Amino acid sequence: MGVLGSGTVGQDVLNLIERRESVFSDLGVKIEISGVLVRDVNKVRDVPPGTRVTTDPGFLQECGVVIEAMGGVDRPLEMLLPYLRSGRPVITANKALLAERWDVLREYALAGSLYYEASVMAGTPVIGPMSTVLRASTFTRLQAVLNGTCLYILNQMEEGRDYADALAGAQALGYAETPPTLDVGGFDTAHKLAVLARFCADGNFPYSAVEVQGIENITQKDIQDARAAGERIKLVAELERQGGAGQTGQWKATVAPQRLPESHPLCTAGAGRNALVYEGEECGMLIFAGGGAGGMITASAMVGDLLDWVIGFPGHVPLH
Ligand code: NAP
Ligand code: HSE
Repeated sequence: MGVLGSGTVGQDVLNLIERRESVFSDLGVKIEISGVLVRDVNKVRDVPPGTRVTTDPGFLQECGVVIEAMGGVDRPLEMLLPYLRSGRPVITANKALLAERWDVLREYALAGSLYYEASVMAGTPVIGPMSTVLRASTFTRLQAVLNGTCLYILNQMEEGRDYADALAGAQALGYAETPPTLDVGGFDTAHKLAVLARFCADGNFPYSAVEVQGIENITQKDIQDARAAGERIKLVAELERQGGAGQTGQWKATVAPQRLPESHPLCTAGAGRNALVYEGEECGMLIFAGGGAGGMITASAMVGDLLDWVIGFPGHVPLH
């Protein structure tokens, strides 16, 4: 196996694989890491002793499966495409890559070669249910808080912390993207919404169809005005059919800050918890909530995907 990236997520993937050695062993498998790709081999890393950290991606040629936790779009695609073309699977947490290069990745997802539970809501499973049991129900609408950085910033601002200080806090916790404009500008949430839309609306849903507005212009006054009215400001992703349930036509996908009543499920999910309200005609309203950012919670979904691959389950297949 090969790992691309050993930062917040990649390090915890390596540690969790080691911690779950007996689970793999019960399945008759020993995971051997051929290499871990990084930019700087001299950085101090919290990884199992003996891990082969390198700047040379040559080890990919000998790997049966690759875990991608490096981020970016062009560089990971350039390395993964030849690998995918040779019929081997990829596990990724990279929603930017999935959202923006679906034109080339979709065929591999349809073939079951792409595993990406971690790309949306980290270790809180939403892609698994949406790619399996929820398909029998007619999807009507979803509303979600999908970005841990914005959630943290807005929560901290409610406590009186200023925006810049709260953003620095989210970066220190390892939640934020590089650059954090991806988070606060709403683009990371839009990436995730595009990934989800391909399971419930249109298997070819384009990222460019998401209307995006971020939280950069939210002030302390906006937050306190909302609080005084019994409301909270959240960065909300929404997907619904234009014209409403039962209508045919285009899907409307938006990301924007919204004032929601304190009793709304996206507010009652609990401090620091991402949440997704899924509505389908037959399944009714479902609520998913849990951590959506951080090293180990993301690693838990990626190592779960690895176990699925070992067992023989296909990756996450979008709508055809
Ligand atoms: P990170 O801490 O910045 O780690 C990135 C790692 O990739 C680093 O080890 C870096 O090497 C390596 N890397 C980056 N560009 C490279 C290049 N061109 N060549 C070689 N190595 C390169 O990022 P992260 O937070 O772990 O996130 C990784 C991915 O997971 C991203 O796609 C992110 O969106 C996704 N994700 C993150 C979270 C989270 O909470 N952090 C949650 C879900 C999904 P150096 O260490 O040498 O710099
Ligand atoms: N930057 C992302 C967030 C990481 O804050 O939600 C998890 O996808």
